[in-house]
Amino acid sequence: MSREALIEMARRNLAHLRAGTVDQADDVYRVPAENYHEPERWRREMDAIFKRLPLVLGFSCELREPGAYRAMVVAETPILLTRTGSGEIRGFLNVCSHRGARVVTEGTGRAKRFTCPYHAWSFDNEGALVGIYKGDQFGEVDRDCLGLTPIPVGERAGLIFGNLDPNATLDLDTFLCGYDALLEHHGFDTCTLVGRQEVAGPNWKVAYDGYLDLYHLPILHRETFGGDFPNDALYDAFGPHQRVSGPNPYYEKLASKPEAEWKTAHLLSGIWTIFPHISIADFDAGLKLYMVSQLFPGATPDESVTVQNFLAASEPDEEQREKIDAMMGFLLGVVRDEDYYTGNRIQLNVKTGAKQTFLFGRNELGGQRFHRWVDTLLETPDSELEKRFERGLD
Ligand code: FES
Ligand SMILES: [Fe+2]
Repeated sequence: MSREALIEMARRNLAHLRAGTVDQADDVYRVPAENYHEPERWRREMDAIFKRLPLVLGFSCELREPGAYRAMVVAETPILLTRTGSGEIRGFLNVCSHRGARVVTEGTGRAKRFTCPYHAWSFDNEGALVGIYKGDQFGEVDRDCLGLTPIPVGERAGLIFGNLDPNATLDLDTFLCGYDALLEHHGFDTCTLVGRQEVAGPNWKVAYDGYLDLYHLPILHRETFGGDFPNDALYDAFGPHQRVSGPNPYYEKLASKPEAEWKTAHLLSGIWTIFPHISIADFDAGLKLYMVSQLFPGATPDESVTVQNFLAASEPDEEQREKIDAMMGFLLGVVRDEDYYTGNRIQLNVKTGAKQTFLFGRNELGGQRFHRWVDTLLETPDSELEKRFERGLD
């Protein structure tokens, strides 16, 4: 069924290609410039979006073996992901139940047991408190209630989703709106994580706008990769999650064959975004190389951090490794020196109050849909959240 959806998207793409048309929203959309920096608004976005929705926290392939773990800080929240002995992914707040130390130092590794560096309480990789140092002197406590605090987690399409808020209740499948069945075709679960690097950027929405935007490619990126890029865009939406692609001349070649012979791998072009913070692009480094960008808000409305994760379709040989390193350097430079260089200056500009409103044109439908979802979620109470994802935007 998901292959059928990809074929339907390819048909739609081909129809636009032949007609010389693109997706068009009904109208130009206006976003108040203050939405990009106003602290109270930003705080509401953190609560209604980043704390309530499942985020992509990692990749199945980096925690493949039982006992594997990864500790990290995401949007100021310390998180521990583990793969248990039975092969399940678990997630916790990386905060000791004794007096709040970070139990596991940031990084990856394998361990069945984690010992807090402060007073040596220890926890197993299912979060249970399994040891209190000098427990006989400590006094009576209920060990069963003193494990690491679990967060909701789930694996779909080789991605590890998790909520920063342990009390979040939104069902992962309801949130994904069926989009994961399409992401599955990328084969992330059988990829290898070959690199990871970070780049600092502006307000998370200034940064994310750029990932939904083909309009700027031949302009801002003309000196690097965008010179010959067409900037017409088509959007396929599954709830708030959007695939952004250009009318693809390759589909004319496909069209000469029966649809049953179209290779699924040839139907996956474009940028695949996962609301509210993921962008997936693929490159050729002598093998298929995915860049999965995880965009996290920083400590203030004016900052964000993007983690660029590189997943290769197979274990790279030496020559491919060199190409991957070169590609990683190139993509870091493009995002830092072009996208976020521009974004950081937009961030300074919005604070001058010189412009009240930002505009999203009729073909900037991806940005329009993104901002509508952000605004809608700010107004959606917890009790309505599930329904909102089932129903879509009004
Ligand atoms: S804070 Fe972890 S053992 Fe004391
Ligand atoms: Fe860009």
